[in-house]
Amino acid sequence: MADKMKQKILVTGGIGYIGSHTVVDLIENGFEVISVDNGINSDFSVLEGIYSITGKKVLNYPLDLCDPDTCKTIFSEHKDIAGIIHFAALKAVGESVQKPALYFKNNLLSLIHVLEYAVMHKVGAFIFSSSCTVYGEPDHMPVNEDTPLREAESPYGRTKQMGEQIVKDILAHTNVKSTLLRYFNPAGAHPSAYIGESPLNTAQNLVPVITETAIGKRDKMRVFGNDYPTRDGSCIRDYIHVCDLAHAHTLALEYILSGRQHTSCEVFNLGIGQGLTVLEVIQAFEKVTGRHLNYEIGPRRPGDVMAIYSDYKKAAEVLNWKPKYGVDDIMHTAWEWEKRRSAGV
Ligand code: NAD
Ligand code: WQD
Repeated sequence: MADKMKQKILVTGGIGYIGSHTVVDLIENGFEVISVDNGINSDFSVLEGIYSITGKKVLNYPLDLCDPDTCKTIFSEHKDIAGIIHFAALKAVGESVQKPALYFKNNLLSLIHVLEYAVMHKVGAFIFSSSCTVYGEPDHMPVNEDTPLREAESPYGRTKQMGEQIVKDILAHTNVKSTLLRYFNPAGAHPSAYIGESPLNTAQNLVPVITETAIGKRDKMRVFGNDYPTRDGSCIRDYIHVCDLAHAHTLALEYILSGRQHTSCEVFNLGIGQGLTVLEVIQAFEKVTGRHLNYEIGPRRPGDVMAIYSDYKKAAEVLNWKPKYGVDDIMHTAWEWEKRRSAGV
């Protein structure tokens, strides 16, 4: 424990949705955290939420990682960074189709800059936020880490496929060990309701769309298709609570920093291994909150895969990771967070 107290972790995108929950988990597990996040998709008030939970004021550099001087500034002020968790990226699939150059520049340039400094400063561990989107439309379910990658559905997805390759290539012949974490569908909020999903861009993911509809920010929502060959016709996904996801980052970091990872790079799927349809998610929300949700069935959304859910056996066996939360917890915490942020507390 004494050693771990000294380990400083740089979190990029630390005031974002998954980043902020991971910052909390790292602090609760004895790490010191600094963050860099320019606020392109997040509000700096998230730092107050982190303080309310942990009692720690996290230093955030409000700088753009596409600027080559950003890492220079951070690494000149912190010579003792033991690990980096790289969340910073743009993530709106639809926007990436409209503005592909912005996505390639932002997501890949920032990654390359951070990797260069990780190598230069001999950082021990590098964790990269990847996505189940790299599997495209898979033939077999559940998908494990050996499932072949398919053509991604969007420029955003391609930044993740290319990002994985860039991490492996740049770190291949160095002492920096890396982990690629492929998230399935992150959802829910911290049980304290001090932090949650609060993008500056309009929310497009299912769970925030549900809570925003229920609270009255939207008149109604649409289920994108009920004519898929699934048990009720709507798409199947693997929804994972953001706190379970956050803890997996701490475990992946500890795995490398304790010298247990002998390969240059490891890949882990992070989902709960259970597929739910869109309509089942809506039913869970209505059951947990006792509220009726105003929704209608709309056409299919272009680019949606019919079904995807994970085999996360590798993370369970190697990292000793076990998701604690299910869909009811996701709905409960997302709803508590929605009520709190809508009240402006
Ligand atoms: P988010 O938008 O909430 O967080 C990303 C943060 O990075 C934001 O706070 C943003 O301001 C910051 N950022 C972006 N570009 C930056 C730059 N150039 N310089 C400095 N800061 C920058 O997104 P999230 O949901 O927390 O996602 C975190 C990571 O996980 C992303 O890489 C995302 O692609 C990946 N991911 C997310 C999901 C999901 O559904 N949320 C699923 C799979 C993978
Ligand atoms: C889930 C399901 C929709 C909104 C995206 C990215 C993926 C990863 C996770 C980053 C789908 C349906 C949604 C709505 C609906 N992100 N839906 N009405 O598309 O599985 O994955 O986020 O890496 O790369 O593509 O997530 O939350 O948008 O959709 O019916 O208003 O909910 O059709 O079946 P998705 P999602």
